[in-house]
Amino acid sequence: MNNVVVVGSQWGDEGKGKITDFLACSADVVVRSQGGNNAGHTISFGGKKFALQSIPSGIFNPNIKNVMANGMVINPKAMLEELKGLEERGITKYQIFISNRAHIIMPYHILLDGAYESLKKDNKIGTTKKGIGPCYADKANRIGIRVADFINEDSFKKCLENTLPIKNRELESLGIAPLNLMDIFNEYKEYAKKIKPYVCDTSILLEEEIEKNSKILFEGAQGCMLCLDHGTYPYVTSSSPTASSVPLNCGIAPSYINKVLGVAKAYNTRVGEGPFPTEIHDELGSYIRERGHEYGTVTKRPRRVGWFDSVVLNHTRRVSGINYLAIMLFDVLSGLDKVKICRAYELDGKEINYIPASLDEYARCKPIYIELDGWKEDITNVHSYDELPQNAKNYLKKIEELTKTKIAMISVGPDRMQTMVLHDMFE
Ligand code: IMP
Repeated sequence: MNNVVVVGSQWGDEGKGKITDFLACSADVVVRSQGGNNAGHTISFGGKKFALQSIPSGIFNPNIKNVMANGMVINPKAMLEELKGLEERGITKYQIFISNRAHIIMPYHILLDGAYESLKKDNKIGTTKKGIGPCYADKANRIGIRVADFINEDSFKKCLENTLPIKNRELESLGIAPLNLMDIFNEYKEYAKKIKPYVCDTSILLEEEIEKNSKILFEGAQGCMLCLDHGTYPYVTSSSPTASSVPLNCGIAPSYINKVLGVAKAYNTRVGEGPFPTEIHDELGSYIRERGHEYGTVTKRPRRVGWFDSVVLNHTRRVSGINYLAIMLFDVLSGLDKVKICRAYELDGKEINYIPASLDEYARCKPIYIELDGWKEDITNVHSYDELPQNAKNYLKKIEELTKTKIAMISVGPDRMQTMVLHDMFE
């Protein structure tokens, strides 16, 4: 079995795009299983930089099958624009397969996402306003529009006739003008025609690939701390970015998942609201933000920056079955006198090693740090673990020890070449 799941093990933006792209060089199939164009996967190679949102990271290799599985929510307009952008930059040969069971993000989802956020005022989640939450809500409420119905004009119209009156009532109750059915239908049926050639039953396709012993890479979006079930609810996304969600979101057996690579920044970041115990509020935070270019790929918002948190890592390791780590943006920490790793929290005078479910309790958690000596050397051109400064090695060893997980990959810069492999995930 040659299947690797790549998951974000913090709050998203860990560098999954780079790692997926790197591993994709040895993969036959790359699968996005959840989320939609709220993701922003940055990939750099050959002096070029690409930012993918809903399209899987194997798109640059014409031999790779890129699957957008049933657990995804797809904005067809945005996806077609993304494809057009790639084509304009020379990516013209690719293979895409879209699940007939994935759900479609409609214009009312985007309007509702924005409206709910405004209503929440100080309690807003800080969503990407791409309509992700309202689309998943309609899926659970059984009024969503699936790709199979979307690409059939009659079914699409019937779905809209059933759903739009309900959504228009919701929009009007929020002070937004109702949408016209024929306007949406006429615009979206054109997108449907364009995506139809890519649509199939991706569960069947994946089983065939598994039977052929193909190398399959499941590319997680967001991070496990943004999981609807195991994240810092309600400051989460509306799907599950954990490895355990992959079988359901792709229509494959759980027994096909055995290798899980957790991608983690050498420090920590978060966009949007919600507790973040190791957040650095002083100028050191701004220093790391600038060095790491910590601004949202999708929303351009400055990311909140904090120290590496092994309590978070142990939580995501447990809920996602992470058995290897990829440590990203390691070069960003060069030049600091001291570096810190959070090993536990103090909650109301007691030391704890878990993430409290109650957000009030989580907000009261204070990090307990281990402080280590930093390293001054620029490590962006280091190509092997042995060449790393001793203090940098000490830092990595401490992460392995505290998270009980082996490091398989280390990234010291955005380019594919700036990646050290300690363990081959497809071995
Ligand atoms: P939504 O997914 O747009 O509903 O946003 C919900 C929360 O997840 C917000 O805090 C977003 O900032 C966060 N989020 C969603 N997608 C990503 C991502 O790809 N990286 C980091 N944060 C994300």
